[in-house]
Amino acid sequence: MSDIERLFERNKVWAERIKEINPDYFSNLSTQQHPEFLWIGCSDSRVPANQIVDLPPGEVFVHRNIANVVVPSDLNCLSVIQYAVDVLGVKHIIVCGHYGCGGVAAAMEDKDHGLIDNWLHHIRDVHRLHADELDAISDEQEMLDRLCELNVMEQTSNVCNTTIVKNAWRRGAKLSVHGIVYSLKNGILKDLTVTDGTKT
Ligand code: CO
Repeated sequence: MSDIERLFERNKVWAERIKEINPDYFSNLSTQQHPEFLWIGCSDSRVPANQIVDLPPGEVFVHRNIANVVVPSDLNCLSVIQYAVDVLGVKHIIVCGHYGCGGVAAAMEDKDHGLIDNWLHHIRDVHRLHADELDAISDEQEMLDRLCELNVMEQTSNVCNTTIVKNAWRRGAKLSVHGIVYSLKNGILKDLTVTDGTKT
């Protein structure tokens, strides 16, 4: 069996298992989605949104890219945020980074990674903004872990500064924006920051 055939096989077994537990599962879910959460995370295969917070399909609207970056020129990410806020009416936007992020580490390396260096430039911007704090950390791993946290906080702030979120708060929408970071080592999420629009 090829790798792809194995995926189709696993898919069939999974769908059967779900239907055994709830025969109406797919017919109910196919007509609507009411997720309360928008998850903006890293593409890293070890950080799957639904599994980490143990939520089934239908509960989390997801956008992932390398190093969970939110920039106002990224039409893809902005479209996801707009749809989630204006159409789905999510109550929470979560920016989730993770310690040991390869994108964050690559951004700090003095070598050519090709096209992706243009994307990772956003991480270098975060580093520059917090250079005093980061340069004072002598242990490299510790510095990168802190940069992962600061990146989450900067990207969370970028979410808050989108016209989409600002307008939602202006019209009194109940919408919180959370920055969290995930540990690959123990599977635990750490809460870094939360904003509900009343303080901005
Ligand atoms: Co990552």
